[in-house]
Amino acid sequence: MVIAGFKIPKDTHIIINMWANDNDPNVWENPSEFRPERHLSEDHKTFIRAEQLIPFSLGKRSCPGEGLAVVEVFLYLSSLLQKYDIKANHKTDTSLEYLFQFTIAAKHDPYVTITKRRK
Ligand code: HEM
Repeated sequence: MVIAGFKIPKDTHIIINMWANDNDPNVWENPSEFRPERHLSEDHKTFIRAEQLIPFSLGKRSCPGEGLAVVEVFLYLSSLLQKYDIKANHKTDTSLEYLFQFTIAAKHDPYVTITKRRK
């Protein structure tokens, strides 16, 4: 078949470049800025899922564990935040620079201070 002018022969393995999607300045304003609120409504109360946000991929081979993963991540993260205060300390470089290796990793280690919340 031909997709966007490219001939894709039968049985070709195709790997989606998720990084390119997540860092496309035509889709995301200043994509390298850590601004999670870009995914929230104006009052910051509701998560708004942009059509272009595809952490679980798309199509027939997309993640079948999406439903479980979303619940799991929510429970895991909210339990941690209920019990601990987690703050980036002054040594943390918050720029989203990457190391391109076999995978893509953050260039700078985060320095965080974790304290147990008092009851
Ligand atoms: C935050 C957590 C998760 C993320 C971000 C995630 C993301 C993804 C992505 C992007 C793919 C497609 C990979 C590709 O294109 O080749 C995938 C596939 C898959 N995921 Fe997940 N996943 C998560 C959690 C889970 C969980 C909890 C399960 C199972 C309980 C799961 C099971 C699978 C399986 C079996 C596939 C392969 C589907 C196929 O090739 O037909 N994932 N996942």
